[in-house]
Amino acid sequence: MKTINVGIIGFGTVGSGTAEVLRQQTENLSNKTGCLIRLKTVADIVTKELPPQFAGVELSRDAASLFADPEIDIVVELIGGIEPARTFILKAIAAGKHVVTANKALISQHGMEIFTAAAERNVEVGFEASVGGGIPVIKALKEGLAANRIDSIMGIVNGTSNYILNKMTEEGVPFAEVLKEAQAKGYAEADPTYDVEGIDTAHKLVILMTMAYGMSVQLADVSIEGITAIEPVDIEFARDFGYRIKLLAISVNHGDHVEARVHPTLVPVSHMLANIGGAYNGIHFQGDMVGNVLFYGLGAGKMPTGSAVVADIVDIARNIDRGSINRVPSLSYLPEKIGPARITPMSELRCPYYFRITAADQPGVLSTLAGILGKNGISIESVIQMGRQKQGTVPVMIRTYEARESAVQAALAEIDGLEICPAKTVKIRILQEEK
Ligand code: HSE
Repeated sequence: MKTINVGIIGFGTVGSGTAEVLRQQTENLSNKTGCLIRLKTVADIVTKELPPQFAGVELSRDAASLFADPEIDIVVELIGGIEPARTFILKAIAAGKHVVTANKALISQHGMEIFTAAAERNVEVGFEASVGGGIPVIKALKEGLAANRIDSIMGIVNGTSNYILNKMTEEGVPFAEVLKEAQAKGYAEADPTYDVEGIDTAHKLVILMTMAYGMSVQLADVSIEGITAIEPVDIEFARDFGYRIKLLAISVNHGDHVEARVHPTLVPVSHMLANIGGAYNGIHFQGDMVGNVLFYGLGAGKMPTGSAVVADIVDIARNIDRGSINRVPSLSYLPEKIGPARITPMSELRCPYYFRITAADQPGVLSTLAGILGKNGISIESVIQMGRQKQGTVPVMIRTYEARESAVQAALAEIDGLEICPAKTVKIRILQEEK
């Protein structure tokens, strides 16, 4: 039986999970590939000793030892971040190694450089674990949905923010408190900025859009808003009106241009994505042939992410064995068919909105606010004013009919400039049910 040797860089959560999946599934994998997939070396700068179940696996402190080892076929990068991960991957490719990575930040920002280098060297780069953890969404776009034009992508792809919003909804606890608890339990990273500010979600949207549309989408193309301004009062409003607040990655394909946005969204409770709870991910595609498809599962974690990493190793092992390297293009489209991104300007977006305006509790305030919205062509659907706060202000919650983003931005700039409105208005877009 042919042996495929694997080297892993990084023995943290995902690295040790991948090693464990390879160990536990050795026979299963050889039944599926006809190869013995063997973890040969782990490179890690902090691990002093590998756990006893990995007896026989070499431990190195130097990633370069993997590139220099002629026996290693596949280098798995699991350290995350841009550098030194980018350099390691490019060096592995230059040494003729196939690469597997879970690195969404790197693939979304330096993917083209990496895929071009890999194509020149005729090696493969697998990145299934970069989006949706254990959910096989990358393979679905490349293969299962290949017969479709993708008309829309909508997803909850950050488990940390979904967990936080869920806890706020269930227990009515403020954002900062839930975040602290999530960090203490190890759910959220010590620096949760990328998760709660929507950046991690945007990294994943860039990857999905590039593969769905054959466009070279950049992080800067995505309009990004996170969840830090959401308060229990917004969640209460959402509940009363039949919504849940979710951090969504959204892209609608308008044919000659595509939307690219990440923001908290009021999702009707009847929508499937409203019911994705806890640390789970849900990714919905609409294809012109297949219709609606929803992927659901654990978007992070040691074994689910390890499962996705090993799926890429299996693909590569099969292709090595059959001499069919790069049979499936990394980004689904042939490299020469990937064109520049044509992104819908945010100002052109149209949807209903929810605003929480912080206003002084005095006569004439509501008419001033309504006047500004009316002047900008924004029609109010309902208004609720909550009890007076300590500072003598009241939260005024407004739900609008469908409005244009440019009009909303103009109206809110004027409202936030008023002396009677001392705090920035919180704006949440509302997802419309399909008619
Ligand atoms: N920080 C990510 C999350 C991990 O919370 O979903 C998976 O990419």
